[in-house]
Formats: sequence, structure tokens, C-alpha cells
Amino acid sequence: MITRREWITGLGASALLLSLQGCETKAKPARFVYITDLHSINDWGCPDALTLVSDRINRLNPEFVLIGGDLVHGGFRSTPEAMEPHWQVVLKFLKSLNVPWFAAPGNHDLVGAQHPDFSTNLPDPRQSFRDKMGLTQTAYHSHDIAGHHVILLDSVQPVAGNKWGYEGRIPDEQMQWIRNDLRNVHPHTPIIVVTHMPILSGYYQTVLGSTTAPPPSLTLVNGMDVIRLFDKHNLQLVLQGHLHVDEMIRWRNLTFITGGAVSGKWWGGPNHGTPEGYGLVTMTSPHPDWDYRTYDWKAQRQG
Ligand SMILES: [Fe+2]
Repeated sequence: MITRREWITGLGASALLLSLQGCETKAKPARFVYITDLHSINDWGCPDALTLVSDRINRLNPEFVLIGGDLVHGGFRSTPEAMEPHWQVVLKFLKSLNVPWFAAPGNHDLVGAQHPDFSTNLPDPRQSFRDKMGLTQTAYHSHDIAGHHVILLDSVQPVAGNKWGYEGRIPDEQMQWIRNDLRNVHPHTPIIVVTHMPILSGYYQTVLGSTTAPPPSLTLVNGMDVIRLFDKHNLQLVLQGHLHVDEMIRWRNLTFITGGAVSGKWWGGPNHGTPEGYGLVTMTSPHPDWDYRTYDWKAQRQG
């Protein structure tokens, strides 16, 4: 398998060759797979399902894969030791992908954030995610991939005092990191943001009623503040997770996609009509194209 560095260097060399040849053919739009909410677990047939998914993805031959969080199932109120078999399931899946992948954390990936008896919450619930994903400092990170700048956010914050134990928020420190990160990005470079907690969704209105406001556990409470950071940049696409439904919203020139879930309804079948699946994104102009596909999984979870 090629390394990320070899792959990115290779892309640069191809682009240089094209420009040296004075090639007037427009470059093909980037084409990649977005998956989210895998909820990997050593049960419910999940390892077999992930084998199916990686086969489907590899057959599509995308340029890269982006992942919207909840790579593992049940970390928030668990211990690193108990989560280890689940990490092994998802790491095997990731290893089987033929192309580079980049992941944002979800609430289930924050291991030990809230111990069942509230007595031994781990001081750094992101440590497992960083260690497993090969990230050294923070769970948020950015990459230049195939002519795009991709920013993967750390969008779940454990909080005491609400019934879920967490909320969707980008804290001040991470907001400042985004500002600094954008200083090195050309205003015309297309940008993709990946965030587990959605910034914009019609889920609440379509499923729960038109006047339903989203709770802080299901959306980013400061999502529009995040969007405003990109005022002078070419933000084209926001990829979201957490809700396990397939939806696309276009607000002016900006496309928001909530990417269904590899696990469907947490391995219990379709969720509000969205089956277990993965999505193919093509960065066509002027708007990205989104093709959510099921992989025909028969749910095995009982209860
Ligand atoms: Fe999830």
C-alpha cells in the first residue's frame, strides 16, 4: 500500500506534468467516499459487515476516504480495556482500505468520558482516538488532499450538567486553530469540513415536527460561528454524522451532507428509512454530488 506522503507527492507530480504539457483538459473532479457512524463492535455481525463495506469502497476506487466519527461503539461510558476489541475491529477495516483515510472523532470515540458511576472519568477521553488514529497532539486536524483542504473537527465536548453528558460545540481554542489553519489556505482552494456533530440538518423538523429545536446533544450549538470563520474562503462542503440519516441541504453555495450510517440504526436495521450505507462524493462544479449506497446488510442485532 502506498503511504500518504507518496500518494500526495504523486498527485503533485501529476499536476505539474499536466501543466508542463500545457494540457487544456479540465482536471477530473475529486471523487472520494464519505462514511460515518460505523459503531464498530465485536458483535452483531459487525466485522463481517465491515468486510462488505471495504470491498464495496475498494471497488469504487475513490481517491481517499473521509470518516465522520463514531468509529467504535460505546466508548463514552467505557474503559480503554473494554474498548480494545472494538478498536481492533475498526483498525482491521481501515487497514483493508486501498486508499488514504482521515477521521474525525464522534461521541462514541471519546473513551471513558463518563464512567457509569461518574467517579473515574478519564482526564483525556480523546487519548484512545488519537493513539489509534496516529494523531500526536489533538483530535482535530487538517490535510491538503487532491487539490482540496480538508478540516476534520473535534466537535463533541463532554459536559457535566446535561442529561447526555456531552454537547456539540467547537471550543475557543479549536476556533483559533481553524483561523490559524486558514491563514495557509488560498482563498480559492476548495475546502471540505468534516464534523461529527451537524451544523445544519432538517432531521428534527422532518422526524419530530416542524417547530422542533435540536437539543445540544444532537447538533453544534455554535455551528454558524464556525461557518463564519470561512467568510473569506471557499468552503464548499460540510460532511456531518451523528444522526444516522441520509440528507443533503444546500444553503446558497454551501452543501451540508449528513452521511447516513455504516451501522444503520446502531446495527438494528434502517434508521428512519436510511439503510446501512456509505456515500460517494464527487466534487462536481458548481455543487458536489452525493450518492448514498446501501450494501444490502441484514441486521443481526437482537434487542
Ligand atoms: Fe453514531
